[in-house]
Amino acid sequence: KKSLLVGCGSYLPQRIVTNDELAKKVDTSDEWISKRTGIRQRHVAAEGEMTSDLAVEAARRALDNAGMEIGDIDLIVVATTTPDDTFPSTATKVQAKLAMEHGAAFDIQAVCAGFIYALATADNFIRAGQARAALVIGAETFSRILDWEDRSTCVLFGDGAGAVVLRAARADENVDDFGVLSTHLHSDGRHRDILYVDGGPSSTKTVGHVRMAGQEVFRHAVSKLSGVIDEALDANGLTSSAIDWLIPHQANARIIKSMAQKMKLPDDKVVSTIDRHANTSAASVPLALSEAMADGRVKNGDLVLFEAIGGGLVWGAGLVRI
Ligand code: ACO
Repeated sequence: KKSLLVGCGSYLPQRIVTNDELAKKVDTSDEWISKRTGIRQRHVAAEGEMTSDLAVEAARRALDNAGMEIGDIDLIVVATTTPDDTFPSTATKVQAKLAMEHGAAFDIQAVCAGFIYALATADNFIRAGQARAALVIGAETFSRILDWEDRSTCVLFGDGAGAVVLRAARADENVDDFGVLSTHLHSDGRHRDILYVDGGPSSTKTVGHVRMAGQEVFRHAVSKLSGVIDEALDANGLTSSAIDWLIPHQANARIIKSMAQKMKLPDDKVVSTIDRHANTSAASVPLALSEAMADGRVKNGDLVLFEAIGGGLVWGAGLVRI
């Protein structure tokens, strides 16, 4: 059965931290950050506000937007790198907070590509007939794993959550060209050293902080995203002119721009939230989608291309007609 994307929602913590505020703590400036990354501010979760809290709020809004209730959902997939606890999964906490006592819930760990991985997973569960409707959530509190004294990483990330509802198409619905058309996932573990967290339960017994070789990541991001975009278009016999919206992972405005240029897409076909949200990892794509649907840019019937890359390396793309 085909899966349809029938709703989306998002949530951002209240507190906003501007570049100027960061410049008071580390040796940086609004000019450096905005010029190199496009970031002007980020949202940061309050003390005690956890990834599951952001996820639940985004999920509620997505259900509302889909006109569905939690009883309709039989699968929750949460993409996160910043789970509340080592275990149980954040997804089961979300399930409990939403008072859902049936179905299945689990986390996916694919860092910044997490939402694409979660979307592909839920889509495949629905195609296989193992789920009827899924909440697919990307939620992060990256602020908790940043080294706030390392200017080369702490300026890049923010907290937030986005969610979509996927449901199986009904037999009487004409969905030929609608819903999730295809998803494409890749990974290459040889590149773990260019973007990682220097801690974990089995290695150091600490949580650790984000470490990154920025230029290396940048180089891989441009070539690997470009490859997976081509793969997604080719698989559907499409050229980039068929795409109504590119909704990219929001890591750096220059990476986004180079993908848009490669696809010959004008800026007004690319959804960008990097200036206000910074990099929210697994949450960035559904956050951008929700914003663009809420303000009426992305409409029913539009063909949307999602893409993302993250530590691992892991990367992927998905083509969805909304
Ligand atoms: N403020 C001021 N100066 C800084 C800062 C800062 N916040 N951070 C680094 N610098 C300095 C460096 O120390 C360096 O100084 P030096 O020349 O005296 O040695 C100088 O700025 C240039 O540093 P570079 O790392 O060469 O700067 P670059 O132009 O590559 O930009 C950036 C760095 C923004 C991290 C870029 O490489 C990038 O965006 N890479 C992609 C990585 C990414 O997006 N990661 C996000 C997570 S992964 C993902 O989501 C895909």
